[in-house]
Amino acid sequence: MNIKKVGVLGAGTMGSGIAQVCAEAGLEVILVEIQDSILQQALSKIGASWQKAVEKGKIDSTIKASREALLKSSQDLSSFKDCDLVIEAIIEEISVKKKVFKAMDEICPDYTILATNTSALSITEIAAATSRTDRVAGVHFFNPVSVMKLVEVIPGSDTSHSTIEAIVNLTKAIGKEPVVAKETPGFIVNRILNPLVNEAALAYQEGVASAEEIDKAMKLGAGLPMGPLALADMIGLDIVLHVTEYFFNEFGESKYRPALVLKQKVRAGHLGVKTGKGFYDYTK
Ligand code: CAA
Repeated sequence: MNIKKVGVLGAGTMGSGIAQVCAEAGLEVILVEIQDSILQQALSKIGASWQKAVEKGKIDSTIKASREALLKSSQDLSSFKDCDLVIEAIIEEISVKKKVFKAMDEICPDYTILATNTSALSITEIAAATSRTDRVAGVHFFNPVSVMKLVEVIPGSDTSHSTIEAIVNLTKAIGKEPVVAKETPGFIVNRILNPLVNEAALAYQEGVASAEEIDKAMKLGAGLPMGPLALADMIGLDIVLHVTEYFFNEFGESKYRPALVLKQKVRAGHLGVKTGKGFYDYTK
């Protein structure tokens, strides 16, 4: 199957990034978000990024205009009715995802592949809410989507070979590098990265060093592109906590127990870059 029209559900950090890279690759995109303020914010962020690319001389204004023409938006799920692929990037709540997949299954034609950008949840469980379990898969992008090359592609227990092939081909067509991973909590990257971030939070909590020093040590001593606490702030501490709690419950092993400091920051509403405060203060 040759994917030409992509639907993206959810215009948060990940959804808007996915919509952006798909339009940049010349695909027709429909970005659906229920909340108008989030949708408008996403569209202006994408527009600003393309404007910056024009100013830097990376693209000309004709390319910017053609990208803008490819990217449509809506607040209505029925806009997905002629998409070849829909990628869901909404809240990481299994009950909400199942409800949305059931609705999309009813709206979309038989040929549409329904994919989820979940970073940890079960693809099989999400697929079971639909009548097309062979055409549901995980397609997991990384933050920031426009920069990070990897996409994890995850089959559920019933996902067909042709569905995986279509998604792998799409990821290559948008300039990404796919890696197919087995359906297990966190797949590959989060399985390994999340415990590292949680361990950094534990070290911070124990007073081993300041956030700046922990991050400096991991950048200079372990060659990471950014420190784990700055990374946690970029991902969103709510998402880091959610994934860590999910691992703790799924694996049932104490090594995945979330650091208390993560819980405290989330309870205080300090979610990282998106709220202005996390391990660092972004308001100054
Ligand atoms: N959004 C969009 N573009 C960004 C960006 C952002 N948040 N941050 C940086 N960039 C772009 C810059 O505009 C710049 O582009 P140009 O070269 O076109 O000008 C380019 O990236 C390089 O930026 P910088 O030189 O300022 O910074 P850098 O070289 O330090 O790179 C980084 C920044 C890409 C974020 C890098 O620090 C990095 O790779 N960090 C690790 C990110 C990571 O681990 N992501 C995975 C998170 S886990 C996840 O996403 C999964 C999940 O489910 C939670």
